[in-house]
Amino acid sequence: EKITISVIKADIGGWPGHCKVHPALIEKANELLNKAKEEGIIIDFHATYCGDDLQLIMTHKHGVDSEKIHGLAWDIFKEATEIAKELGLYGAGQDLLKDAFSGNIRGMGPGIAEMEITLRKSEPIVTFHMDKTEPGAFNLPIFRMFGDPFNTAGLVIDPNMHMGFRFEVWDIKEHKKVILNSPEELYDILALIGAKSRYVIKRVYPKKGHKLPEDEPVAVVSTEKLYEIAGEYVGKDDPVAIVRAQSGLPALGEVLEPFAFPHIVSGWMRGSHNGPIMPVPLKYATPSRFDGPPRVVALGWQINKDGKLVGPVDLFEDVAFDEARKKALEIADYMRRHGPFEPHRLPLEDMEYTTLPSVLKKLEERFEPV
Ligand code: 13P
Ligand code: 13P
Ligand code: MG
Ligand code: MG
Ligand code: MG
Repeated sequence: EKITISVIKADIGGWPGHCKVHPALIEKANELLNKAKEEGIIIDFHATYCGDDLQLIMTHKHGVDSEKIHGLAWDIFKEATEIAKELGLYGAGQDLLKDAFSGNIRGMGPGIAEMEITLRKSEPIVTFHMDKTEPGAFNLPIFRMFGDPFNTAGLVIDPNMHMGFRFEVWDIKEHKKVILNSPEELYDILALIGAKSRYVIKRVYPKKGHKLPEDEPVAVVSTEKLYEIAGEYVGKDDPVAIVRAQSGLPALGEVLEPFAFPHIVSGWMRGSHNGPIMPVPLKYATPSRFDGPPRVVALGWQINKDGKLVGPVDLFEDVAFDEARKKALEIADYMRRHGPFEPHRLPLEDMEYTTLPSVLKKLEERFEPV
């Protein structure tokens, strides 16, 4: 029997500014999730935060894109927004871009990563939660986990994954997708996903011959783009991901290894700057310096045979990631010293979705031919 893991998140108000989720919002989420659990709608849940994004982690039997589950998440975000308003939190309801729920939370503002899977005898998973960045921030680490033998020893030495994986890549501007095989089409995959603001890894699947079902994902990333919904910049799309580990898949440590390198992502201040992503335990998931630098939290879980979430383990709460944090802070200093100059500030094309158009409009009449 299959179970579904859903991670649904939204920024419904920051405390203060864009720093952190207020505990009252998490408390409200816990209350409503607990009620849904008692009513048998969900099997298990955990509510937490990463920066100013409220994170709902749920297991259930309704499959992906379920009206019940999305509706539950929407109601929680709506009710918690009322508390955010009472507390005067910053940008209360920021990511709720539509008024009425109509069956599916997709395209309404929140970010969603979901997978329906047949549970293995032991099912270790990691949920990743990022703040102050965008879905393409997952391209490099997810590629490394499932495609790079210098990261994942198992691709070379484990016969159960030696055949590689399939990557589902979305063109988020043209709304198209393509499935590419690794390692055969490695260079094609990289040609696309290196352009991370446009091509994003949506899912990873096993290949034919793998012991896991070909049509059940082993990794999934939220790919919602807020500016496409709102028509203007309303905050970055602070993404989440779910990754399964072990036995035929990357080991837990191979899933985490990519984050030992704090790669450059876009987001940070006003969603308009490039900077390093810093792997942090929850207690440090409170971006403050220049509203950043961007953060990633990794929560480790075992899902038991009934679909219960056994965890979380705060996986970056380990001295082994101290050097990555130190490196991220060095890079943050270096990048900051560029002030408003590229490549710290995003290139023009990406600024088109933020406040730059209004600045240009103001100057329109003062431009003259040369
Ligand atoms: P243990 O011997 O600690 O179980 O580790 C096994 C392993 O494969 C680690 O990657
Ligand atoms: P969030 O997307 O986390 O709300 O951040 C928005 C922002 O503009 C930070 O400076
Ligand atoms: Mg915010
Ligand atoms: Mg955020
Ligand atoms: Mg945001």
